[in-house]
Parts: sequence; C-alpha cells; structure tokens
Amino acid sequence: MTTYDIALIGFGGVNRTLAELVATRGDTLRSELGFGLRVVAITDLRLGSLVQPEGIDLGIALNLDGGSETFAAHGGSADTNNELVIRDCTADIICEATFTNPDDGEPAVSHVRWALESGKSVCTTNKGPVALRGAELTALAEQNGVHFEFEGAVMSGTPVIRLAKKMFAGLKLNGFEGILNGTSNYVLGRMESGLDFEEAISEAKELGYAEANPAADIEGYDVQLKVLILANELLDAGIELKDVQREGISTVTPENIQKATREGRRWKLVGSARRNPDGSVTAGVSPVALPLSHGLAGVSGATNAVSFDTDLLGPVTVSGPGAGRVETAYALLSDIIAMHAASKEVAANV
Ligand code: HSE
Repeated sequence: MTTYDIALIGFGGVNRTLAELVATRGDTLRSELGFGLRVVAITDLRLGSLVQPEGIDLGIALNLDGGSETFAAHGGSADTNNELVIRDCTADIICEATFTNPDDGEPAVSHVRWALESGKSVCTTNKGPVALRGAELTALAEQNGVHFEFEGAVMSGTPVIRLAKKMFAGLKLNGFEGILNGTSNYVLGRMESGLDFEEAISEAKELGYAEANPAADIEGYDVQLKVLILANELLDAGIELKDVQREGISTVTPENIQKATREGRRWKLVGSARRNPDGSVTAGVSPVALPLSHGLAGVSGATNAVSFDTDLLGPVTVSGPGAGRVETAYALLSDIIAMHAASKEVAANV
C-alpha cells in the first residue's frame, strides 16, 4: 500500500483540519482509496516547526493552540525556516495553506516554487500563487515531473476546476458567472435580514469564512483572484489581475437592499468572464441587483455557485460551499486523491 508523506505549511484552520482528517479518517482512506497519509513536517508562524520523518504525533500537534507553547517543547523549534523545511524534508507532498497575499502571492509563491524545484508535489488552497503565478508554477511542476493541484483555491472543496477541465471535454466554454465569495454573500444576506454591515462581517469572521483581512472579501479582491484563476485555467484567457475589473459590496447600502427587496431583486457580488467574438476575454467582479428569477439569486449564506455557459449543454451550474475549514481541508484531500489517481494511471500505462 502506498503511503504519502505530507508536510503542512501553515497550521491554521485549514491544515489543522486536514491533520484531523488524517488522524480520524486514515483507516477509511487506506481501505477506500488505497493510500495512507503520514504528516512528517509542520511549519507555522506562531508555533514554529516540527520535522519528524518517522511521522508526527498529530494528537500532540493538534493540542497546541497557539498560546505560549511552541513546537520547541515537542522536539521541534520555535522558529520556522520554510525554505529549509520544504526543500530538505522527506515529504512527497507539500500542503500549502498560508494566508493569501493578493499583491504578489508571497510567501506562498516561494513555498510552492521551493517544493516543486525539490521534486515534491504541491496542493494548495492559496489563491495567490495560482492566480498570480499559475502558468509558471504549472510549467515548473511539469519540468520536475510532479503535481501542482489547487482545487481549493476556488469554491473550497466544491469541485469546479477539475470538474470543468475533465468533464467539459468536447464542449466549448463561452464564459461563466458566479457567486464566488462566501463572506460577501453571507453579509448581503444578513443585511437583507436587517443586520448592520459590521455585525454581519463579524459573524462571517467567527464562522471562519472571512479572509485574514476581510476587506479582501468585501471589496471584491478575493473574487477578482478567483475569476482570474477560472478564466486562465478554463478559458485559457491569458489575462492578468489588472484585466479583471473589480468593485466590491461596500457601496451597497441598507437602502439599496430594501429597494431591491421591494422590486423583487437581490444584491449579489457576481464574478464573471466571457469570451468575445475576437477571442479575447472580458472579466470582472461587481455587485448586481439580480431579479429573483435569476439562477444565482437564490444562492444564500456562504454557499457559492458558478454557472458555465457551454455550447452544447447551455448553462451548467455547480453549487456548494465556498468557504469553511472542513470544506477547504477537503479540497486538499481531493487534490491528493487526484494525484494518486494520476500516478496509478501513469503506472498502468508503463
Ligand atoms: N474568504 C473566502 C470566502 C474564503 O469568503 O469565500 C474562500 O476563499
């Protein structure tokens, strides 16, 4: 039976939950999917680093809650040197779940690069490296004969990227529109129920939906990155961040929301991209008061949905959770499952 050794870079909600899944579902994974997982390294800004090639005791790691205790008390170090750990550890797969930096994607871009250069596969939920350096990192993975998977960068564990890439074969994709940010959708819904903006945002933070800086959710930066990822990955748009027009929901007032309700409309933050007749792609994110009859108007809470416009099937819509710790940790697991399936395919063809 194959066992993949994994390293967790960033030990916040997502990778912590992945560690819980490894600890609680390891046997099921082995019997149902035919592989085991062993965590051999963890690094975290607050907790330091722990590298144990024979496998980390996840009970101990999960008990560290970010108080004054660090990995130094358990055979590790209070500091982190991510480059050293990523390049030198014995992991087969690096699970990158540090915060998204929408400006230059760092330090996650470097984490991914170090891993791929040292022959390790990468799965990440981090939008920065995928949106800003996706093509370059995918090429680097190919050069090094390893995998670079990032299902969780858009709509957490709800399968969108892999589904569209694999299941839309033979169809022509003309574009897509979707609700791609759980926090802003949650906030708009709560404002519709009468809550004020700030209260709604703190609820979204508590529920684990919001980014480290919730302005990324509210001002549309998060959706801008996701639209860029989908446009480049699925429409082969070859565009950059500056090509995705952006407007967030902070301009939507309670009065706007009440007026829309009276008119049978609902405000949604919609991200979209469309191929033009000349082959170029127009992409953007903006708040829109959708009529209730619109397919995206009924998508509520932190749920996301994306509707793909295909030539032979017309619109095909995928809906599911777009945020949350368990949902996003599952995305990493689904990436590892995809890597395993691809390796088995290669082995079968040799
Ligand atoms: N903050 C994001 C959201 C998390 O609310 O959708 C997933 O990218």
